[in-house]
Amino acid sequence: MLKGIGRVLIDEQTLMRRIDEMGEQITRDYQGKDLVLVGILKGSVLFLADLVKRIKLPLVIDFMAVSSYGSSTHSSGVVRILKDLDEEIEGKDVLIVEDIIDTGLTLNYLTELLLSRNPRSLKICCCLDKPSRRKVPVKVDYVGFSIPDEFVVGYGLDYAEKYRNLPYICILDPDEVE
Ligand code: PRP
Ligand code: MN
Ligand code: MG
Repeated sequence: MLKGIGRVLIDEQTLMRRIDEMGEQITRDYQGKDLVLVGILKGSVLFLADLVKRIKLPLVIDFMAVSSYGSSTHSSGVVRILKDLDEEIEGKDVLIVEDIIDTGLTLNYLTELLLSRNPRSLKICCCLDKPSRRKVPVKVDYVGFSIPDEFVVGYGLDYAEKYRNLPYICILDPDEVE
């Protein structure tokens, strides 16, 4: 058993059914476009892997790795790029893929940065959204699930780098974790 794992919030079948729908919608919306999916490491990798299998279009996958700048527990909203994209995105139809949008600081920063490179279009696709936590506005174009303000792990989301491999989303009780 995994210590600290509480209630399952979104089970695997529910995740896959919703991702089926999202893949179909993206397939319709990006017909004839020059699609580049940008996964934000590390949290997005499980979602991205399942999503791309359901997008029936030619596409390119690229990754960025970022970390909130500074040591303060409160993110300043300044994001440090640990790994940049491999490819140019000028003139491309870019879709950022994230596991979760919380305060919005990461995506707010990344949106500004990527827009400065003149893509033809830039949209955001998130598996989870916690709208009650937002500090800065971010327009999210595709949302898998809107969730309450609970600490969730699994399906890419970590607590101290653990639990990412769980195939479902569950609520973590930090008091129960070693
Ligand atoms: C988490 C999550 C999002 C971001 C959301 O990443 O995966 O990328 O935080 O938070 P925000 O909306 O408040 O900016 P984290 O920085 O923990 O890195 P990880 O993906 O490697 O876990
Ligand atoms: Mn992340
Ligand atoms: Mg994390």
